[in-house]
Amino acid sequence: MSDELERLEREATDKLESISTEDELATWYRTYLGRQGEVTSAMKGISQRPAEERPAFGQAVNALRNALQEAFDARQDNILAASLRKRLNDEAIDVTLPGRLPQAGNLHPVTKMIRDITRVFGLMGFQTVEGPEVEDAYYAFDALNIPQDHPARDVWDTIFIESDQREIVLRPHTSPMQIRTMEQVDPPVRVVVPGRCYRYEALDATHEWHFHQIEGLAVDTNITMTDLKGTLAEFARQIFGQERKVRFRCDYFPFVEPGVDFAIDCMFCEGSGCRVCSKTGWIELLGAGMVHPNVLRHVGYDPDEYTGWAFGMGIERIVMLKYGIEDIRHFYQGDVRFLSQFNRVLA
Ligand code: PHE
Repeated sequence: MSDELERLEREATDKLESISTEDELATWYRTYLGRQGEVTSAMKGISQRPAEERPAFGQAVNALRNALQEAFDARQDNILAASLRKRLNDEAIDVTLPGRLPQAGNLHPVTKMIRDITRVFGLMGFQTVEGPEVEDAYYAFDALNIPQDHPARDVWDTIFIESDQREIVLRPHTSPMQIRTMEQVDPPVRVVVPGRCYRYEALDATHEWHFHQIEGLAVDTNITMTDLKGTLAEFARQIFGQERKVRFRCDYFPFVEPGVDFAIDCMFCEGSGCRVCSKTGWIELLGAGMVHPNVLRHVGYDPDEYTGWAFGMGIERIVMLKYGIEDIRHFYQGDVRFLSQFNRVLA
């Protein structure tokens, strides 16, 4: 082989060995084996050679080209394998890393309690309906046997929106939906009505100017106080535990007769008296009673044919009792530290 070819071989082989990237590989190939590479131009130089040297020279160049091609292929395999290894290494996933928990929202505790309570009543055959928060005083009071100028109107600390032609109020209780429901359907009636209520009230640990109630109403033939007591006892035991005792005491609401307050024995002290039950052993949950005949007459039901009962309760109070929350103001301050606690307990 000529000196020139030997030099070319040495140079190309040395360079190939120092190569470590795919880019350098491509450059090397262009420099030596490409169409304008050095080996190719050496081959073209054959015509300048004396005729008798040509066959040997041609063979030598061919051999050089084959050798370099082989060396190139081997080097290329090496480099591709190395870069694949590097990629696999760099992009490896550590499956032992703990996952990142996605931030999930949760239902407001009042929303959750409304669902829990309406589910309990749903199982007893009660339909859930909703009504307007801006209400005509006729539904909020008059039709509920609280005529204008009746002193009982003061009890509800009502927020008035308009009082010229018609009295329009923010409903101070969910009871107007008793009337709206009975106006719509004939007995039998079994509904519960969750919803927002408003009262003109100074804020403190147990009073909010807006809060939620659930109303219950059952009207049919032969509905008695026993049905009321049984239904409320079942509700109380589903929410506060099967062992709860229940108590009825006389109370007054213009739209029921007789009216009662409904209490359960205190689940914090089992009735022996503590701070939560004000040492009485009993916790009052709601007001209730047999629907007043005047109310039935207002919606065109015959009180001689139909009887019914109704109840109304504050939902925040139920949540506070169930989860030991001491201040009603927590509910509507939007503090996620408070709200997110219910993620687990209410799940
Ligand atoms: N609406 C009454 C209140 O807000 C509660 C109640 C409802 C009482 C139904 C008796 C019957 O206090």
